[in-house]
Amino acid sequence: MTTEDQKKAAALAAFDYVKSGMKVGLGTGTTANHFIRELAARAKGGLDVECVASSRATFKLASDLGLKMTTLEKHPHLDVTVDGTDEFDASFQLIKGGGGALLVEKIVASSSRYMVVIADQSKKVATLGRFPLPVEVVPFGINATAWKIERALRICNLKGKLVLRQKQGKPFVTDSGNAIIDVAIGAIPDARRLDHLLGSIPGVVDHGLFIDICGIVLMGTDDGVKTFRKA
Ligand code: 5RP
Repeated sequence: MTTEDQKKAAALAAFDYVKSGMKVGLGTGTTANHFIRELAARAKGGLDVECVASSRATFKLASDLGLKMTTLEKHPHLDVTVDGTDEFDASFQLIKGGGGALLVEKIVASSSRYMVVIADQSKKVATLGRFPLPVEVVPFGINATAWKIERALRICNLKGKLVLRQKQGKPFVTDSGNAIIDVAIGAIPDARRLDHLLGSIPGVVDHGLFIDICGIVLMGTDDGVKTFRKA
């Protein structure tokens, strides 16, 4: 099975958690896109769902495909969000934000009864941190925010290389108008502590650690889809 096949198989397995009448949060990225395309096909066949997008790109794809879109303003409680991830560990902790949509993805997922993560098998890690941690920051005072991020890492006995994310030679701008600093850390043994410390830095809008948000991971493998479910 190719990685793409694994992503697609995981996306199809997510339909066990989607029923007519539900309000569904839509993730961002290539794996989420497999889910969105299949959801649109099933909606044409009668599955009646309303969707909230986690990014402009997802909104465009889903609405172009004819899915009924709604907002968190209208429906602040969603039934389920289906999204991809950059990494997950055995405690259902994630690193997300490779596509830069982490802030809205976290708002949408945490507003949902269930967050179902769909992933290929390369995304499973023993300890988070192989993927550089995206930190979304307000552009004002970015260098001051950067040293506070480094201080938070030191408190956790970690070191990281901070890189301002670029797109086509210019600083990347998120859907919310912020910048992203990617922090290459390596293993993060206590992600919960780092989550708290980063979250308390003025200027940090959010970061890609998702702790206590995801309860189900569907992982496509060469031997079919493996389900991990939080007790
Ligand atoms: C976007 C994300 C994505 O879910 C993550 O980057 C995984 O992407 P893909 O499904 O393309 O591998 O967090 O911000």
